[in-house]
Amino acid sequence: MTKYSAKQWFVKKRTEGNINIQETFELVTKELSTDDLKEGDLLAKGLLFSNDPTQRLWISKDSVEGKLYRAPIVDGELMQTYGIYEILESRNAEFEKGDQVFARGNWADYCILSPDTTGDAGAFLFKVQGDPTALLTFGVTGITAYFGLLHSGAATSKDSTIVVSVAAGATGSVVCQIAKNVLGIKNVVGITGSDAKCEVLKKTCGCDYALNYRSPTFKADFEEATKDEIDLYFDNTGGETLNMALLRMKEHGRVVSCGAISLYDDDDTKGAPVSAGISREAWLQVIYHRVTIQGMLVTDFADQIMKALTDLGTWVAEGKLQLIQDIWEAEIEEVPKGMLKLLRGENTGKLITKVIYP
Ligand SMILES: NC(=O)c1ccc[n+]([C@@H]2O[C@H](COP(=O)([O-])OP(=O)(O)OC[C@H]3O[C@@H](n4cnc5c(N)ncnc54)[C@H](OP(=O)(O)O)[C@@H]3O)[C@@H](O)[C@H]2O)c1
Repeated sequence: MTKYSAKQWFVKKRTEGNINIQETFELVTKELSTDDLKEGDLLAKGLLFSNDPTQRLWISKDSVEGKLYRAPIVDGELMQTYGIYEILESRNAEFEKGDQVFARGNWADYCILSPDTTGDAGAFLFKVQGDPTALLTFGVTGITAYFGLLHSGAATSKDSTIVVSVAAGATGSVVCQIAKNVLGIKNVVGITGSDAKCEVLKKTCGCDYALNYRSPTFKADFEEATKDEIDLYFDNTGGETLNMALLRMKEHGRVVSCGAISLYDDDDTKGAPVSAGISREAWLQVIYHRVTIQGMLVTDFADQIMKALTDLGTWVAEGKLQLIQDIWEAEIEEVPKGMLKLLRGENTGKLITKVIYP
């Protein structure tokens, strides 16, 4: 029997409104023993954690069973994350000690990973092949961009204007590059929150227009960039930017509703209209212009992931797609700060937490 002293982050109290890390999470030290492992289980060490805005929704007070796309995490449960883990002990014939796996695990230095037996499409557990940070970047948000743009949004080279919000983030930066470098869209408009990120959109992602939504000239800049109207709006933010896009759609334009990060850290509105909601004028355009709004979840495409990863890998090899990653190092005690980095817009590209062991 081998014992591990594990530090694991639990959800203490799901907070309403803007998240407070100290009130929401609690670090608990507990002993894990190989005797605790059931058939199929793995005892694993956390190496890299994916930082995803959706983790904020998993612990929202208003995310109750049946109202979220997955089971919410409730008070007293271990915080979950996608990540890369090293197997230290295995009771599973498919994995051995020393393997690295990509899994939905926990914010923990040591934890137990169990293969899903319920058919939950979000419960990944498979061996890492190749560069683990590339897998984290493409494995969730890269394939979200791929399926969201090409399948849910049905984008083709016939589209002339595509607008992307949260464009310098993990998903958005891949959407912009596929739109410009693979489909050859004439006018790719990326929207982000700083001038520095606008530079990345222009220089690395190939955007024709890079707009800073914090700029006093944003509305005028948006009108100029969308003067020929929008074929496809890839929405990662919801709120006021969605409202603006709806007012500029072409007839039969499409909106891919991938995310709504401007609303995630604001769950104290409890069903009240959010302050930056959709205006009457914008909603009427959905009817008048016969706009299709298509919600998407990457997990719907679980059976086509290998095809997506192959295409993304090919585009990287051809120089059409660059991995834009933001890797920050943290001891296990600091891991929740990654959620704040996302909500404050401190990342460019895919934010990954590299767990360091002093
Ligand atoms: N449907 C799916 O299956 C699926 C899968 C993955 C991700 N998503 C969604 O895609 C979106 C992007 O997620 P991601 O994983 O690619 O991460 P990400 O783009 O790296 O998200 C973090 C970025 O969001 C922006 N942001 C933060 N708070 C904001 C606010 N209040 N208003 C506007 N922008 C804000 C910031 O960029 P700025 O500086 O530009 O503001 C920040 O850097 C999210 O809405 C996420 O939920 C959906």
